[in-house]
Amino acid sequence: MSNISITDLRKSYGQVEVIHGVSLDIEPGEFVVFVGPSGCGKSTLLRMIAGLEDITDGDLEIGGTLMNDVEPAQRGIAMVFQSYALYPHMTVADNMSFGLRMAHAPKDEIDRKVKDAARILQLEPLLDRKPAALSGGQRQRVAIGRAIVRDPDVFLFDEPLSNLDAELRVEMRVQIAKLHRTLSNTMIYVTHDQTEAMTLADRIVVLRAGHIEQVGTPIELYEDPDNAFVAGFIGSPRMNFLNARANGPKSVEVAGRTIPLPNLTADLRDGTALQLGIRPEHLDATDGVRLMMDVDVAEDLGATTFVHGTVGGETLVAERRAHVGNAVRELEICFAPDKVRLFDPDGARVR
Ligand SMILES: Nc1ncnc2c1ncn2[C@@H]1O[C@H](COP(=O)(O)OP(=O)(O)OP(=O)(O)O)[C@@H](O)[C@H]1O
Ligand SMILES: [Mg+2]
Repeated sequence: MSNISITDLRKSYGQVEVIHGVSLDIEPGEFVVFVGPSGCGKSTLLRMIAGLEDITDGDLEIGGTLMNDVEPAQRGIAMVFQSYALYPHMTVADNMSFGLRMAHAPKDEIDRKVKDAARILQLEPLLDRKPAALSGGQRQRVAIGRAIVRDPDVFLFDEPLSNLDAELRVEMRVQIAKLHRTLSNTMIYVTHDQTEAMTLADRIVVLRAGHIEQVGTPIELYEDPDNAFVAGFIGSPRMNFLNARANGPKSVEVAGRTIPLPNLTADLRDGTALQLGIRPEHLDATDGVRLMMDVDVAEDLGATTFVHGTVGGETLVAERRAHVGNAVRELEICFAPDKVRLFDPDGARVR
């Protein structure tokens, strides 16, 4: 287990800077997930930690040692990629042990480590098979096994499950959670998947355009986002945003209705334009502010229905833990004022 400390890390390709001074401290044994839109720099940051990309500026320490110029193989890390690229002519066991054999590790040590990894990943019955005779999820487990046998201080995962179908993803997600519990290594995990981020992370790092927007536990980010970007990024379906206008120090007007917000710390200035954020799952309260929604489409998933429609001409989604027939044209939505998150026009949180 190692801590990782990143200070003002920057990356430029030629004249173009893509990572703009990122600082982050990761505790030993912590599971940190990087999320953010495509191109925001998740892979670049991970590859800089791995040593696969040069660091343009700033410091990277792993286990208290400055690693900026240390060879990837000497950093005590193992990385698992989205494309797992197993050697097709080698068995599962040989694929997993390849790195150790290249390093001339003793045979009994190699056998023991491969056996341990195979047990953890439930690959024991498959050790003599070639990759062509494995399912996608099994191949992905072999790729993870290849990382485990190296016994790294730090695991880096770059979207390791994105090539798998929905069912396998769930299975592998649970495997990875168990793996972290068993090995308790420090892990950094990049994903686009909301559920993976929320369920696996001790802390989530939300990145946008080469900057960190917010770092926190999944629930902190969900309950207490610093800005509209994080509020909209964490949670699925995403938070609804409605145009609002302050009409008193602790109240706003939305679609012609006054909404009291007694929990605000700030005093609002009359007439200020704001964005009112409210999550789809918070729109079926029994007490609170009631609004009528014009329904466009109801998506019934069985246990949950996502109702898409408009309030005062603005689109929003409401979640119902019930069936909502497609004939429904109007739906009463109701939310508790303490579920409202308020943002200024630039997206900064108004608390
Ligand atoms: N070799 C390169 N030369 C120039 N620009 C690059 C290079 N590699 C990456 N970039 C740019 O750096 C930025 C960050 O890329 P990166 O691959 O880290 O994004 P990402 O967050 O991993 O995205 P995705 O979710 O699509 O994988 C992008 O704007 C990308 O175009
Ligand atoms: Mg990437």
